Amino acid sequence: MSKDYRPLLPQAHASASSDDLLKEKDGLEDEVSRSRFTLRRPVEFGILAVLLVLNIIGLYFNFSRSTPDCSASQMDPIWGVSGPLYSPAQSAVRYERRVFDELGTKTIYHGPPTDETDKAWDDLYYMGLSYISAEEAALLPNRTEPLPNDKEGRYAISLDVFHQIHCLNYVRRALWPERYGPPEMGPPGIVIGSDTEPFDHTDHCVNILRENILCNADITPNVWQWDESRGVSFPHFDSIHTCRNFDAIRDWAMARKIDRVWNASIHVGHEHGH
Ligand SMILES: *[C@@H]1O[C@H](CO)[C@@H](O)[C@H](O)[C@H]1NC(C)=O
Ligand SMILES: *[C@@H]1O[C@H](CO)[C@@H](O)[C@H](O)[C@H]1NC(C)=O
Repeated sequence: MSKDYRPLLPQAHASASSDDLLKEKDGLEDEVSRSRFTLRRPVEFGILAVLLVLNIIGLYFNFSRSTPDCSASQMDPIWGVSGPLYSPAQSAVRYERRVFDELGTKTIYHGPPTDETDKAWDDLYYMGLSYISAEEAALLPNRTEPLPNDKEGRYAISLDVFHQIHCLNYVRRALWPERYGPPEMGPPGIVIGSDTEPFDHTDHCVNILRENILCNADITPNVWQWDESRGVSFPHFDSIHTCRNFDAIRDWAMARKIDRVWNASIHVGHEHGH
């Protein structure tokens, strides 16, 4: 190594040393002058290189050893390993960025309701149940029933997103009794748990939506921006979100639509241990 060698960092430091900000950072200057001292001497540079190699080796062993510890610390005492549970629709998940509607935008989903808004809402989730294979069913964290008399031995599920949107639609309809009548109780004759009251569908839907909003806990920051005409900083909900592509998930469900009547009164049993 030549005696004329000038490390880049101290040079950069020298030209920036007039900067008041840098002068204040005593710690940084110490580091910089020490590194200039070290790198000028071949012997010390050699030691540094050896130490660097040892460091990398140490880091490797440390890393490979700490991996099991690391996953152990992510173990949840009740649910086991944390992170997403298995879903047969995992392959349909496409992440995308989506800008939400600006305040005041009217979409086909807004009221007052018409036949067109009703159809738009129904189209979001009217696809019935989906089938999955026995292999997929065996991986589910919660068991589900096989379809009776099904040659392929398939099982029935429905993705929660469609139940959620059904519920939101149910709540929406409850807001317009003049069009939809009073919200139905029921289904009639079905007693749920120890309830003596008829099942309140709307109330159930509000709760399931609450659970889902909290479960997914969207951390997209909404922002406030100065509004010249109003003379105030105004909140914006038309921020850009990380989303799952809904159409891809709906396509997945459509492709696996159970398009025959499922008689839920027939019990098949669980040959597959599920
Ligand atoms: C689903 O699995 C969880 C965890 O084991 C359990 O607490 C819950 O009761 C199950 N639900 C059904 C319907 O099997
Ligand atoms: C469904 O299955 C039950 C039990 O086997 C039977 O009594 C009933 O008639 C079936 N319903 C229809 C619509 O096939």
